[in-house]
Amino acid sequence: MKVEEITFEMLDAEKFIEEQCEEISRLVGDGFAVNALSGGVDSSVVTMLGHKALGNRLKTYFIDNGIMRKNEPEQVGSLFKTLGVSIEIIDAREQFFSALKGLTDPEEKREAITQTFYRDLFGDLVKKSGATYLLQGTIFTDVEETVAGIKRQHNILTQLGIDTQEQFGYTLIEPLISLRKTGVRKVGEALGLPESMYNRPPFPGPALATRVIGEVTPEKIELVREATAIVEEELAKSGAFQYLAILHEDKVTGIRSGKRDYGHQIEVRCWDSTNAQVATPTELSFDVLHRLATRITTEVPGVVSVTYNIASKPTSTIEAL
Ligand code: XMP
Repeated sequence: MKVEEITFEMLDAEKFIEEQCEEISRLVGDGFAVNALSGGVDSSVVTMLGHKALGNRLKTYFIDNGIMRKNEPEQVGSLFKTLGVSIEIIDAREQFFSALKGLTDPEEKREAITQTFYRDLFGDLVKKSGATYLLQGTIFTDVEETVAGIKRQHNILTQLGIDTQEQFGYTLIEPLISLRKTGVRKVGEALGLPESMYNRPPFPGPALATRVIGEVTPEKIELVREATAIVEEELAKSGAFQYLAILHEDKVTGIRSGKRDYGHQIEVRCWDSTNAQVATPTELSFDVLHRLATRITTEVPGVVSVTYNIASKPTSTIEAL
């Protein structure tokens, strides 16, 4: 299926919402659909759109995969409650960590996450709930990068020729597939999401697993989660497109309390971009960089070194994997 882009300039958000609601209702008919909310912009917008179209015939799950940001399940759950959308939290931490065990290759890690989401969890949830459709927030950029062979984005299935009905027992509905991030934000605003949600920096579906180099373990996720919280707090007012922390696999020699400390390295990335296709590192002041390094090395256990990525995309990419 060829996807046509709707540019930000072409987008009439109200009309888009009306058309997508009609299409979702037409497809689902009298049946049921499910969707997964991750707290990212795209899945939040799809959740609002799906509830507008289907009301109680859409069941929304928050899959706690263990690789989310700090306090994310609680915060997302309470925000959507205030918006009148109830969410069921599924504890799937064990499933994800065991699927990721022993994997170091980036694409194998992505594939393990895809299979755990779509085959294991959704296969089950869809069966139990009697739903026939899964709504998800795939956007134009996700398709482009996967089809170009840059990264296998976790949510790309149909565009790679995967028949979800045959393989997993449900059909995908992807109402945002023709939009880029700026268009999705415009639709989120028109749907009444708070600005703190529709203007949130992007966050990838495979979550903090895209920010751990090498094997993903609960301990490494905990380190990168703490570093991410510091980076997000310090750079919230930077105006940058996206900012993140990456945990490196190699340890390096450092000094703590006058003694050798063989510890972890965190890499900070902060990007200027409009559509994530190309990006340049934000020219952060040395004061800001210094504060980041001080906080990360004192607040994240075992970290002795902090670097800042000064390469652009391309050749770099926004996430580490
Ligand atoms: P990259 O790292 O490819 O990221 O330069 C481009 C944008 O996409 C986000 N990203 C993902 N989003 N599933 C998603 O939903 C994924 O598998 C995925 N990988 C990267 C990334 O955060 C950035 O905004």
